[in-house]
Amino acid sequence: MKTLRLNMTTEDIKVASEIICAGGLVAFPTETVYGLGADALNAEAVRSVYLAKGRPSDNPMIVHIADMQALGQVARETGEAALKLAEAFWPGPLTMVFKRQEIVPDVTTGGLDTVAVRMPSNEIARELIREAGTPIAAPSANLSGKPGPTTCNDVLEDMEGRIEAVIMGERCEVGIESTVVDMTGALPIILRPGKVTKEDIEELLKLEVSYDEALFDRPNKELNPEDGAQRAEGFKPKSPGMKYKHYAPKARVRLVHGELEPLAKEAEAEGTVVATLDYGEDSEEAARRFFADLRELDRKGVQLILVETLNTPGLGFSIMNRMLKSAGFDVVEN
Ligand code: TXA
Ligand code: MG
Repeated sequence: MKTLRLNMTTEDIKVASEIICAGGLVAFPTETVYGLGADALNAEAVRSVYLAKGRPSDNPMIVHIADMQALGQVARETGEAALKLAEAFWPGPLTMVFKRQEIVPDVTTGGLDTVAVRMPSNEIARELIREAGTPIAAPSANLSGKPGPTTCNDVLEDMEGRIEAVIMGERCEVGIESTVVDMTGALPIILRPGKVTKEDIEELLKLEVSYDEALFDRPNKELNPEDGAQRAEGFKPKSPGMKYKHYAPKARVRLVHGELEPLAKEAEAEGTVVATLDYGEDSEEAARRFFADLRELDRKGVQLILVETLNTPGLGFSIMNRMLKSAGFDVVEN
């Protein structure tokens, strides 16, 4: 298959929407990471997304919408709190989990009776959804287990020849995936931390918000082989995607509390090709660059990436979640 490069023009977005409507796959920019889009209501199309990504099929997709009418089409029992969150953070990097409507196929929700929904703020993404006239299921447009794609070239690196088209958009502003919040219980539960933080949600709703316990579990490394697809048994988060090995570059990643330089020198002396990443206190920059930096260092053939841990609250916590997973929870004090 030849992967078409499409531009951010009205004409090309129309071409992209036609591919989606015909059951094909199109990668497109969002403000978080690039998505790999398929018609969310077409089971066959969604099945091909799992294939293209090499993704385990019990890992459900986020359904992307462009307006509030579409929310009722795919979700039910949305409730007051969710509407408040939608008003404050949509369009934007927030995904909410609701009871699903029958119209959403099993394959889209990984067989769950819930559906994850997000309205992205990226204009190209919303234009594509509107033009397609159907909600778009889109996981991140990377091979399963690899760092998220924050540029169109990252997408091509993983997906060339596996999907019909890529919309060649800009670099993603946020750089890590959306916050996922389960809205089906009495109180919201954060299943995946992101740019919209626990504090943001608590302040708006005046409700206590918790993190899914699985966020703090360390998956068993032996059960998490390189290909990223194997299940870590005994690790049962509410968000099925959180149990798989994630964000792993070819290089080994190690997080360091404290000084990077002495450890880098040590490894270099042993003949290892080392690189260091230190974002200081700038969590916005860390979010924007972390996945991109991992990919860049892989291209350079680096063997060991030492990353200084972030100690900032809010967004810093969300980035640490990605950093820990990319490092397979390998953290040292120095
Ligand atoms: O920022 C984002 O959310 C990006 C862009 C493309 O929108 N998408 C993304 O999709 O990160 P993906 O498939 O890589 O991650 C979706 C996450 C997974 O952890 C999945 O398990 C969880 O959302 N999820 C999806 N549906 C769910 C559901 N019904 N209940 C619980 N978790 C769900
Ligand atoms: Mg992903």
